[in-house]
Amino acid sequence: MRIVNIASEFAALSKTGGLADVVSALSRALAARGHDVRVFLPAYGSLDALPLDRWEVEVAQNVELVLGPHHYRYTLQQAVVPGNTFQVYLIDCPELFHRPTLYGEDADEHRRFLLLTRAALDSCQRLGFAPDIVHCHDWHAAFAPLLLKTTYAWDRLFAATRTVFTIHNLGYQGIFSADHADDLGLGAGVSQLQQSDLYAGRINALLHGVVHADVVTTVSPTYAREICTPEHGFGVDPFLRARGTDLVGILNGVDYAEWDPRHDAYVTERFNSEDLSGKARAKAALLHRMALAPTVRAPLLGIVSRLTWQKGLDLLYEVLPALLAKRDLRLVGTGNGDPALEHFFVHLQRRFPQQVVFHRGYNEELAHWIEAAADGFIMPSRYEPCGLNQMYSLRYGTLPIVRRTGGLADSVQHYAAATGEGTGVVFEHADAQGLRWALEHFLWLYSEPAHFQRAQQNAMAQNFSWDHQASLYEALFTQR
Ligand code: ADP
Ligand code: GLC
Repeated sequence: MRIVNIASEFAALSKTGGLADVVSALSRALAARGHDVRVFLPAYGSLDALPLDRWEVEVAQNVELVLGPHHYRYTLQQAVVPGNTFQVYLIDCPELFHRPTLYGEDADEHRRFLLLTRAALDSCQRLGFAPDIVHCHDWHAAFAPLLLKTTYAWDRLFAATRTVFTIHNLGYQGIFSADHADDLGLGAGVSQLQQSDLYAGRINALLHGVVHADVVTTVSPTYAREICTPEHGFGVDPFLRARGTDLVGILNGVDYAEWDPRHDAYVTERFNSEDLSGKARAKAALLHRMALAPTVRAPLLGIVSRLTWQKGLDLLYEVLPALLAKRDLRLVGTGNGDPALEHFFVHLQRRFPQQVVFHRGYNEELAHWIEAAADGFIMPSRYEPCGLNQMYSLRYGTLPIVRRTGGLADSVQHYAAATGEGTGVVFEHADAQGLRWALEHFLWLYSEPAHFQRAQQNAMAQNFSWDHQASLYEALFTQR
């Protein structure tokens, strides 16, 4: 199959979260299964700092693209990403993509990704590439299905093209003022915009992907069910329910080439499920490096996360200070985002300098070290479409402490002492009491080496390889 991916992030090039990991690993897995995969991404200004081999594609240089009253020019670039066998294309439009951060709140935010989407489809035309599947990720690419039915409907190149829209996070919908409707360039197709939204004066990008894609997927089976409810549907649930069996949940996979303690490129200590001595060395090394009090007996907890409401880390406010005061434990975390959360961790580190280090920011290397060195990994998410870190944790024998929601529910099983089955600690309610129970339960488990080691073995035996998950996408692409 000829598969086009349109996305705003791609691991190793531009990443704020799991979307980047998924777009890159899924593309690689599908290419490995013999498909012709082409990925279209923005050429963000931040790419200039990378040692990236890229060149301009002759058929698409300095191309004019009109979005309503706005005229832009872009050039298509091709890039070589080491280890990838598929084509990575970058849409170079400095006016829109050279900004301090990947995402922003500028008035033209919707046009940035509309340009990405339009340029990706235009580039298919210029390259004479007739995709069987256009796979659009999140709100950034959500207009592709509607554009293919309207603006591009004349072109026989796309006659057999089917569209798949994947929701990685329903919390971000790309909503902009209806005053910008002309930017979409739909012509008569403008009548296909969601009228109720237009009356309310807005346009919701994600909603149009949900309504117009041939198939809608999201990144775990549980999240696929949850988003059909008003509680998790962020207002889109009626439209999702209306899609019936066209809405499918496929759990993300793990790129074990990147995330495996047997060959982790960042972590110098190696280990596997038969010999965990390297994990103990990794823990000692990380505590030393972070200037925390050394310990063999006290557990080390890890956090690697965007600091947003979604992740539920504010539930720690009520729980963690008291726990640190009365129990011997360590915490190493990294993340950034919500200033209140950042402040909380800075304060916690000041109050417990022997026990807590929180690195404010984004640090790939530290993220790998935390996965390798920690005994438990905290993810108390209010909602979690899939979540990757809990699956990474499993492979490193780092027991995930998660709330039963979305992909967390689908990938972590609560350890039951009675049966010796389970891979982590799972709690039900997104409140301080729930999280307190989970952390206490983890400490109990840690204090029982036979159980703890059994849970670690169960965790490390889990396999969420992309090859299997990619075969589910493949089946979806061929069946529908
Ligand atoms: P989300 O996409 O909602 O942020 P995921 O669990 O799917 O959540 O993916 C998060 C990804 O981003 C993981 O690869 C994780 O390691 C990475 N990540 C998040 N925060 C940081 C950070 N501060 N430093 C390094 N990596 C981070
Ligand atoms: C989103 C979700 C996360 C998911 C990731 C990749 O960022 O928040 O749960 O794992 O996308 O699909």
